[in-house]
Amino acid sequence: PSVPVVPTFTPTIIRRKLTSFVGFSNLPQQWHQKSIQQGFDFNLLVVGESGLGKSTLLNTMFEVPVHNLDTPHTYDSESIQIQTTNIELEESGVKLRLNVIDTPGFGDNINNLDSWKVIMEEIDQRFDQYFEAEENLSVGLSGTAKDPRVHACLFFIEPSGHTMKPLDVVTMKKLHKKVNLVPVIAKSDTLTEEELAQFKHAVLSELEAQEIDFFTPPTYLNDDEETKGEVSELISNIPFAVVGSTSLVVNKEGNAVLGREYPWGVIEVHNSEHNDFLKLRSLLISGHLEDLRDNTKKLYERYRSEKLLKLDVKQDDSVFSIPDPAVRQEEERRNHEERLAKMESEMRAVFQKKVTEKEAKLKSSEGELYSKHREIKEQLDRQRQELEQRKLQLQQQIQMEQERRARKNVVR
Ligand code: GTP
Repeated sequence: PSVPVVPTFTPTIIRRKLTSFVGFSNLPQQWHQKSIQQGFDFNLLVVGESGLGKSTLLNTMFEVPVHNLDTPHTYDSESIQIQTTNIELEESGVKLRLNVIDTPGFGDNINNLDSWKVIMEEIDQRFDQYFEAEENLSVGLSGTAKDPRVHACLFFIEPSGHTMKPLDVVTMKKLHKKVNLVPVIAKSDTLTEEELAQFKHAVLSELEAQEIDFFTPPTYLNDDEETKGEVSELISNIPFAVVGSTSLVVNKEGNAVLGREYPWGVIEVHNSEHNDFLKLRSLLISGHLEDLRDNTKKLYERYRSEKLLKLDVKQDDSVFSIPDPAVRQEEERRNHEERLAKMESEMRAVFQKKVTEKEAKLKSSEGELYSKHREIKEQLDRQRQELEQRKLQLQQQIQMEQERRARKNVVR
């Protein structure tokens, strides 16, 4: 068949420099104002074994009690659970809807092999929710849906000083294509400086060997040298070695600071010489939150096209597949038998219905006959009693007449 030739059309772009103020240069400002008013969603997935300091670090980072530190996570199930905490934060008029998605029970079971599945399902489910909201939006049903997608996964690695646990490697390998992975070495103050440097190196080599992607902030064309330097400094320190604490301690300068106190000195949370807490905070919140959200869009686009592709393949399968003749014959035979069985059961139902109706009719006429018979019998009984009474009266009259006649004869 001949294919119609579509004429090619090259649009002409006319460039003009405006001589007066029209106003659309305010668009970034308008967008900025609108965003501030609406606030931002930040959905943070937290993964790591129990006791690695997850709650402490979150509370330190957001400076509010995201999790209650007095009640460590308890769980009574064989598998891991998903627990979400929603907190609305406000800083200088900017609202942040923080949604922490915790995974208590991770790595705590005897068989942890499937732990990643629950986490993956949560990520997929959130993508699906967004997908459906997008579909509804396209048919005009909803326009105010919040963004449920996971924007970052903070992955806590045990500071073993040796290598990562197989469970951590497997889980990261499963998740890294769907989420911005941010691996951190937990409780890094428990390792010496030398051990920490070696461990960081070991973790990084393992991530590279396993081809596990982790989130790295991008640089932009108009970034100045200082910004570019900061970004490359951040990237070169991944995986961040962090320390969390919500207690104030006195440092060697005599200032009260957030930190952890040891006989040999104080580890300060906000001191970049002591740990990577500030780098992590910059990556997650103060410096690159928008980059995380942007990259989430890319991860979602990939998920979306894979999903659509799968749906298409399924449809294609059903439309174009040519069935095997034997299979088709077998199917026809089965259909025929099903039809016969259906007819038989319908006929049986009709027959049964007729029998029941007839039985009911017979029963009702039997009842009618019985009551008629009783009525006649009662009538006859009544007639007999009347006749008996009449007979008795007549006998009495006869007797009285005979007595009267006998008395008359005696008088004569
Ligand atoms: P679950 O609630 O069981 O999931 O534990 P978690 O991972 O949330 O740990 P949590 O923050 O409750 O901390 C567990 C213990 O580790 C507490 O005693 C904390 O004080 C301690 N801890 C937390 N962060 C650090 C840290 O950076 N360094 C050290 N040395 N200890 C820490």
